[in-house]
Amino acid sequence: MPDHSLNQEAKEPVRFNQHSDAATLVIDYYGYVDVSTATRPTAKLSSNVTKAPLPRIVSLFSGAGGLDLGFQQNDFEIVYAVDKDRWAVETHRKAFPETHCDQFDLTKIPLEELLNTIGRQLHPGERIGVIGGPPCQGFSRSNAQSKANDPRNRLPLLYLKIVQALKRSYSVEFIVFENVLGIQDKKHHRTFEGILHALQALGLHETVNDYDAYDFGVPQHRHRIIIAAFRSSKALKAFAPRLEVSACKTVREAISDLPDPTFCSRGKHILNSFHPNHWTMRPLSARFGDPQNFTNSGRSFRILEWDKPSPTVAYGHREIHVHPNGKRRLSIYEAMLLQGFPKNFRLFGPFSAQVEQVSNAVPPPLALSLAKAIERSLKESQRWTSK
Ligand SMILES: C[S@@+](CC[C@H](N)C(=O)[O-])C[C@H]1O[C@@H](n2cnc3c(N)ncnc32)[C@H](O)[C@@H]1O
Repeated sequence: MPDHSLNQEAKEPVRFNQHSDAATLVIDYYGYVDVSTATRPTAKLSSNVTKAPLPRIVSLFSGAGGLDLGFQQNDFEIVYAVDKDRWAVETHRKAFPETHCDQFDLTKIPLEELLNTIGRQLHPGERIGVIGGPPCQGFSRSNAQSKANDPRNRLPLLYLKIVQALKRSYSVEFIVFENVLGIQDKKHHRTFEGILHALQALGLHETVNDYDAYDFGVPQHRHRIIIAAFRSSKALKAFAPRLEVSACKTVREAISDLPDPTFCSRGKHILNSFHPNHWTMRPLSARFGDPQNFTNSGRSFRILEWDKPSPTVAYGHREIHVHPNGKRRLSIYEAMLLQGFPKNFRLFGPFSAQVEQVSNAVPPPLALSLAKAIERSLKESQRWTSK
């Protein structure tokens, strides 16, 4: 078992002498040039700054790529992605053919091997951003048994350990870390404080926010904790995500114009010709048929209301929300639209794998808002440091 403690020294590749003092450096294409070839920057606002290219992105725990998609939509290049799930990786590879996506269990792969693989996609000293949402089941409030010592709760620190190792070879301009609200609960206090301390130890300036995807254009209430942390404190100050798409506010707006889905039972189904993800479980319970047989609370048989946003798309085993017509559960495709995925996005894998991917994803419109806010923040910090 590799040692994933944050104190472990990375052996390879260390190809760039990491500078941490922004005041002595100016930005070039991939990172920095030394102050000996540059004018010493001052903290004065400049209006004519040449546009630096956006940092390229390393995506950890990338899943189907909901978070990555928003960044890509804002012209960040997703240069590397990694997830342990075979089907999430399959989806990612199809959706992001330019990205090198590995199927690795990050708790098992030696850190040096991971760094070498990532290093093959990056230039020495390059400016990068690291994004990702380590699994959240260990912190989830819907998991009544969630415990402080759940082994999955160590994954956020593993994420930061990877950031620490990357920092030795690249200029990590920012990180985005997504998780459920439960990560801030009292029983996870030590883990959460540990994350904040680790970020500070890495020289990053962080902000922690609870965002509801609904406020970013998604027809769903989905609260998530987003930690954004920047190398530059100026960038942090400017960070203010806002709505960037025309908002879709209700279930009706998102899914009322779809044809009927295909049903599957025992994993078998006929591929839907409208969209391959427009399939759901054959409705076997006697309750199906009349919307009156369901309530809009509880977990197993929760029905959606046409003229409201959906409750959180996060389906446990056989808990997919019931379609507003009461005749069946939602299709995967309907869930994807409630998550704000584009109409042509496709998830791969068996039904249960698709349920997991759609439930896990960061809604792409929220991710886009984060990406745009980060771009504005980086520009703002560049305006301060370039003159
Ligand atoms: C919350 S999901 C990420 C969702 C993704 N950010 C998106 O927007 O689509 C967490 C992901 O972590 C992956 N994961 C869990 N444990 C892992 C491990 N040990 N190594 C690599 N990936 C892991 C899961 O397979 C899952 O896809």
